[in-house]
Amino acid sequence: MSNRPVPLLVARDLVKSHGRTPALRGAGLELGEGEIVAVTGASGSGKSTLLHCLAGIVRPDGGSVTYDGKRVDTLPERRLSELRRTDFGVVFQFGQLIPELTAVDNVALPLMLAGTARGAAQERAGAWLERFGVREQGGLRPGELSGGQAQRVALARALVTGPRVVFADEPTGALDSLASEQVMTALVGAARESGAAVLLITHDARTAAYADREVRLQDGVPVELGVLA
Ligand SMILES: Nc1ncnc2c1ncn2[C@@H]1O[C@H](COP(=O)(O)OP(=O)(O)OP(=O)(O)O)[C@@H](O)[C@H]1O
Ligand SMILES: [Mg+2]
Repeated sequence: MSNRPVPLLVARDLVKSHGRTPALRGAGLELGEGEIVAVTGASGSGKSTLLHCLAGIVRPDGGSVTYDGKRVDTLPERRLSELRRTDFGVVFQFGQLIPELTAVDNVALPLMLAGTARGAAQERAGAWLERFGVREQGGLRPGELSGGQAQRVALARALVTGPRVVFADEPTGALDSLASEQVMTALVGAARESGAAVLLITHDARTAAYADREVRLQDGVPVELGVLA
């Protein structure tokens, strides 16, 4: 393990409950610069909760999250949302595209929020839709997309700003095996090209195999499985 990349995002001893349900019970995880880590584990083992804590979407009850050497779990909300906008790209388990906007505008939005003009933003959004095989669906609204198409649009949206860390919660959950392969090839290719790190939640062994290593969660605690073949 001596050739592990420099840690970029580090979680230590994370504890988080949803009401009385414990989701994380002392979870630690390191994501290296440019590293692709798969998080697997049974339904309810705390995978999404871990991702939400690492991405600064949910504050843990205990433990710490450090990004680039700085604590993020204690950042004020305004700084946290700025960090999410500039450095992180997130694909949620359950869609979260904006229903009123077309696919291309959903993808263009993060660029426009960062100050890019609409035309240029739409052009880049179109290129990302192309990469994920849904350019033709650019004019459709999320309600008119299939589950798999919506996932591809969500991936394009997460990558369009060139984030340093991509968080993807079951990005192939609605895809058949051929489409999963296409989407994972596009995701991993984009990450390798830009040097982005990826935290990839999946229950599919074939999707996990695209990662550099796999961490399996069991009742809110990770079990390290080591380097993948
Ligand atoms: N908003 C919530 N309110 C109440 N309990 C929650 C909430 N979110 C998660 N939980 C509970 O916390 C535990 C961990 O949930 P989490 O969503 O992190 O699991 P997961 O590993 O992502 O599962 P899945 O594979 O089904 O997506 C589960 O017992 C779940 O019921
Ligand atoms: Mg989940």
